[in-house]
Amino acid sequence: MGNKILITGGAGFIGSHLVRQFVNKYTDYKIFNLDKLTYAGNLENLKDVESKSNYQFIKGDINDAEFINDLFLKYQFDGVIHLAAESHVDRSILEPLAFIHTNIIGTVNLLNAAKNIWKDHYEGKRFYHISTDEVYGSLGEEGLFLESTSYDPQSPYSASKASSDHFVRAYGNTYGLPIIISNCSNNYGPNQFPEKLIPLIISNILQNKALPIYGDGKYTRDWLWVKDHAMAIDTIYHNGANGETYNIGGFNEWKNINIVLLICDILDEKLGNPSGTSSQLITYIKDRPGHDRRYAIDASKLKSELGWVPSITFEEGIRQTIEWYLDNQQWLSNITSGEYLQYYKQQYQI
Ligand code: NAD
Ligand code: TYD
Repeated sequence: MGNKILITGGAGFIGSHLVRQFVNKYTDYKIFNLDKLTYAGNLENLKDVESKSNYQFIKGDINDAEFINDLFLKYQFDGVIHLAAESHVDRSILEPLAFIHTNIIGTVNLLNAAKNIWKDHYEGKRFYHISTDEVYGSLGEEGLFLESTSYDPQSPYSASKASSDHFVRAYGNTYGLPIIISNCSNNYGPNQFPEKLIPLIISNILQNKALPIYGDGKYTRDWLWVKDHAMAIDTIYHNGANGETYNIGGFNEWKNINIVLLICDILDEKLGNPSGTSSQLITYIKDRPGHDRRYAIDASKLKSELGWVPSITFEEGIRQTIEWYLDNQQWLSNITSGEYLQYYKQQYQI
């Protein structure tokens, strides 16, 4: 495989872990990080790699087709790992069009640019699209999402990701583009923007603010340590087969309320507060419209075909995550000012 790789969305949560891993591990590659730096993109996440000679940051918008075509012409990328997206379900309910633009049209712009530049010479090329388990819809008490599960997206976010997955497969089928897709469960770990459940709860406990729980709190997600997702992407990028889909998950289901209680206990201990202090902040609020009840991934294809399994337990990962947020409160306060405060007010009215 060629060694000029474009990673889109590399200044975001998962993207920054992936960029770090590739830059440090593959010193003979050149890693280009293309990111618009929306509210979710933060170059502070990548301070430790920014001066490495095999790394280059490019600020830009995947919605700008001309800019994207010029970029591919200029740098002649061999591979694309596409993570740039609008990624938060609640924001997709407030403003669906932004999700259609970036997640669907932005993805098609990248597909077109790759198709134009590679011109049927696909040897050593790869277009890897990073997607979510949310495209499969919602599970009842039983069952797991398989790669063969029919798509049934329920939110504007998952509908836009499902659409982008379909376009990626269509470019594989129609033009022979060497594509690959993975659908991953909920990630957690350092550097996650505090609009998502786990960092939001940690951040609110540190500020002594209410801990908002949607509905009955018994919604279930399968959580994966973000660095294990980066490792899975690395494995799939290098060893996966063209045209294939791989599900990635943590084999780790939790009801939301139980995660919140666990975080409360760990933070009470770390902050030296009497047990039960943080959980008093728990506040049940109006449910998210169209809230998916349960997601759970069967990642056995990835395990049996490519040998990937998660490296750490949830108990270990959540402790490391909490410690990271405690040690990086300046990072947190830098990003929770400005736009985020307005969003928070609109979303929670508390
Ligand atoms: P994130 O919101 O933290 O980061 C997204 C990044 O994309 C940001 O750096 C942002 O600046 C950039 N971006 C947004 N719009 C852009 C545009 N128009 N042009 C260029 N850059 C743009 O997201 P994340 O949680 O790191 O998710 C990354 C990818 O992984 C997404 O495609 C998401 O759908 C997928 N995914 C996420 C999870 C999860 O739990 N977070 C799980 C499965 C799949
Ligand atoms: P989230 O982190 O937004 O991820 P996703 O919706 O993509 O799974 O939410 C995880 C779960 O936590 C989901 O069931 C919604 C719930 N949740 C709350 O109960 N309160 C909150 O403030 C947030 C952000 C999420």
